[in-house]
Amino acid sequence: MKSAAIVLAAGAGTRMKSTKPKVAHEVLGKPLVRWVVDAANKAGIKRVVTVVGHESDQVIPLVEDDCEVVEQPQRRGTADAVNVCRDAFADFDGSLVVLSGDCPLITSKTIRALVQMREENDAAVVVLTMKLDNPFGYGRIIRDVNGQVERIVEQKDATPEEAAVNECNSGFYCFDAKALFDALGKVDNHNAQGEFYLTDVLAICREEGRAVLALTTEDPAECLGVNSRMQLAEATKQLQKRINAAHMAAGVTMTDPDLVWISPDVNIGQDTEILPMTFLMGGSFIGEGCVIGPNTRLTDTIVGNNCVLDETVAIEAELEDGVHCGPRAYLRPDTYLCENAKVGTHVELKKSRVGKNSKVPHLSYIGDATIGEDVNIGAASITCNYDGYHKHQTIIGDDVFVGSDTMMVAPVKIGNRAIIGAGSVITEDVSAGALGLGRARQTEIPDWADKRRSEHNR
Ligand code: UD1
Ligand code: CA
Repeated sequence: MKSAAIVLAAGAGTRMKSTKPKVAHEVLGKPLVRWVVDAANKAGIKRVVTVVGHESDQVIPLVEDDCEVVEQPQRRGTADAVNVCRDAFADFDGSLVVLSGDCPLITSKTIRALVQMREENDAAVVVLTMKLDNPFGYGRIIRDVNGQVERIVEQKDATPEEAAVNECNSGFYCFDAKALFDALGKVDNHNAQGEFYLTDVLAICREEGRAVLALTTEDPAECLGVNSRMQLAEATKQLQKRINAAHMAAGVTMTDPDLVWISPDVNIGQDTEILPMTFLMGGSFIGEGCVIGPNTRLTDTIVGNNCVLDETVAIEAELEDGVHCGPRAYLRPDTYLCENAKVGTHVELKKSRVGKNSKVPHLSYIGDATIGEDVNIGAASITCNYDGYHKHQTIIGDDVFVGSDTMMVAPVKIGNRAIIGAGSVITEDVSAGALGLGRARQTEIPDWADKRRSEHNR
């Protein structure tokens, strides 16, 4: 049967105290609304309609690539939010899942279970419920004497007896689309909040003799909504735990998983060890047998097998197998390190390729450069790639030895096997096999220092 989803993301989220709409706030580098859309996609639902409203210009770019977007002009309640999608689903017959855009912990497994339960029972709706010790604030599930779901009553409309019920509405549902839109036409706003409640659809469907069912989650944390910065931190903690547990189950070692933050789309190979204070963000891909951290932050970076990255920050870099970086290496976008390359302490690289077995061990800046194989760049050597207007290339051949404290003023080429004397300022190309030297000759004035000392009596 066909299935589709609606993600409600029109709310302001005033308790966030933010200029940014709530669903745009990020957990582990991914906006709240994206977690929900991705869970729906992962559950096999390809068609997702996101309802936007408050500061929609900040929400639309987050979802427009793979969602249809419908604007809710006024926030008149959850039923109204779904109702604005009526035209989008005019020809749709099947399962329609409704999800809250501020609940990033929802799993694809639960979404699939909701759809399956509805279809197996030809129910008008299956609502996901949760039993809470402190149900305050949530809608309560009111069941009849036979234990069947009768209706949902909101906190503000509940009698003391109803408020004592601890089974709550999670805000996740799977509807029969036709039954949903028929019932929405009958929802009014005669309630304590003057809002059109989506929850009223359940009682309407039941009165029409359709099956209204509940699926109770075993893990209420899955339904945690983010309304405040505290809840944002709580959701981050929960998702951090979930992601790290999955990596550990797949053969990744973490000394202290509380001190490791990994984005949902990161891949890590078996027997890789992640040390504390490490952030693996974006679409980073780490190979097998690596040691990453401590104090390392990788964003959209590809790392081969058996690499060691100690106190390294890398953004959009690519490393082949056996590369060593740090402590304190900074790899900026378009850095490419070939097999067994070494980038050492206080070294910054940008838009540069370092060849196989080559080393940039200490205190260097290498930008817009191509370095061949088996090259050694001496300590504190720098490519002067910028003339104040344009960036220029430095090309270094194979088996080159660059002495310490060399300035390579680009554009410049150093041929294979060349040696550069320490302290040189290299402004012209150096031929293959040559010595390049660009520094003042040393002179010596005998006894000069001793004379000066005697003049000053020390
Ligand atoms: C809703 C449920 C409640 C449930 C709770 C779970 C209703 C009437 N109540 O209450 O039973 O226990 O969720 O978290 O549905 N939204 C819009 N447009 C609107 C109103 C809301 O897009 O006009 C969006 C919000 O941005 C949010 C979601 O719908 O993502 C839920 O709305 P919210 O006002 O937070 O509902 P609750 O009062 O929490
Ligand atoms: Ca609310």
